Amino acid sequence: MVHGHEPKRVLITGGAGFIGSNFLLRMVPRYPSIQFVNLDKLTYAGNLTNLRGIERADNYMFVRGDVADPALVASLFSTHKFTSVVHFAAESHVDRSIMAPLAFTRSNTLGTVTLLEAARQVWAGKAAGARRFLHVSTDEVFGSLGHDSLFTEETPYNPRSPYSASKAAADHFVRAYAHTYKLPVSISNCSNNYGPYQFPEKLIPLVIMRAAHGQPVPVYGQGDNVRDWLHVADHCEALDLILHMGAPGETYLVGGSNECTNLNLVTTLLDLVDEQLGHPKGHSRSLIQFVPDRPGHDFRYAICADHLRQSLGWQPRYTLESGLRQTVAWYLSHMDWLQSVTDRSYMDYFQSQYGMA
Ligand code: NAD
Ligand code: DAU
Repeated sequence: MVHGHEPKRVLITGGAGFIGSNFLLRMVPRYPSIQFVNLDKLTYAGNLTNLRGIERADNYMFVRGDVADPALVASLFSTHKFTSVVHFAAESHVDRSIMAPLAFTRSNTLGTVTLLEAARQVWAGKAAGARRFLHVSTDEVFGSLGHDSLFTEETPYNPRSPYSASKAAADHFVRAYAHTYKLPVSISNCSNNYGPYQFPEKLIPLVIMRAAHGQPVPVYGQGDNVRDWLHVADHCEALDLILHMGAPGETYLVGGSNECTNLNLVTTLLDLVDEQLGHPKGHSRSLIQFVPDRPGHDFRYAICADHLRQSLGWQPRYTLESGLRQTVAWYLSHMDWLQSVTDRSYMDYFQSQYGMA
């Protein structure tokens, strides 16, 4: 497949998290001639057990550390002579950003600038075509849509939560480095991901985990907010294409045109859990509990991915139906994984916020 940019030594940041680990599990076996170095701080969201399938591979190594640590990042660039960076590392949960925004500024914004600065120093004077900094960003930087229209690469930035503001600031720095220093960058802005290894603070694994235990399932507000869901495997394939074939300086929006209200999504998940656990249809729907809305809750996200589809030939493989079915089956057969990653402090917050155990 590789005809464009051919990375040889790739720094993956945040590779022990949800999307980063799915990416490494696919790419390390696929590209044995590429050396992958995974830099991850192992916050509550990072979990090395996600990477058991590749941890002994000859072309993979793990370094524990912070992307906002300039000395560490510079020394990794100098030792490994990276030809590409795929930058996933971030604080990623909107509700946590509302509770404690400063960690988001540090990891998401300062961390990104720290990596850009190291790449600028080390890549200066090198052929741009042989280098690439792929910044993995989110559709939340564009703010909230009404009932109509879609986000495109031309949509103006309008971040509205501390999380999306920290990611938008990072995106602006990436563009500034491309413009000012001619750093060869690509930016991807993706919609909501779901699939294996997602930390169970996010809606989909949270619903599956709580339904499997017969616990109440919190739906913010009236459940009429809309998200555009994409299976993580389809996101990873898009990133592989962008890394290898994407034009330097380009932004690509990634999304599968799978819009769904939260209430419809939760109901579908509860029905799938019932089906797969052999419960009567509708058994778990009574678990739905409407709770106070997220402050500043964005109403709707929806992506137009025409640019990615037309220029790089990307196509998602999962429908929402097939992806959710696979995901529910995965979590129900990995309850030990869910148990092992559940963060005590988040569960305490959950209890105090909603009175739910
Ligand atoms: P995640 O929270 O599951 O994982 C983040 C990983 O980054 C963890 O392994 C964590 O330990 C690591 N990390 C955090 N701060 C770090 C730091 N300072 N230094 C080094 N490592 C650090 O997140 P995710 O859902 O896998 O998201 C990955 C990226 O994709 C993020 O940049 C996010 O903004 C973006 N994104 C996520 C989604 C989604 O739906 N999950 C959609 C679009 C874009
Ligand atoms: O759009 C991409 C973004 O998607 C990523 O950049 C973020 O990293 C990722 O966390 C995700 O953000 P959301 O806030 O959309 O995802 P979350 O799973 O937290 O919530 C999805 C929707 O469900 C949102 O409208 C809030 C609602 N919700 C969430 C939780 C956790 C509930 O109704 N109840 C819940 O318990």
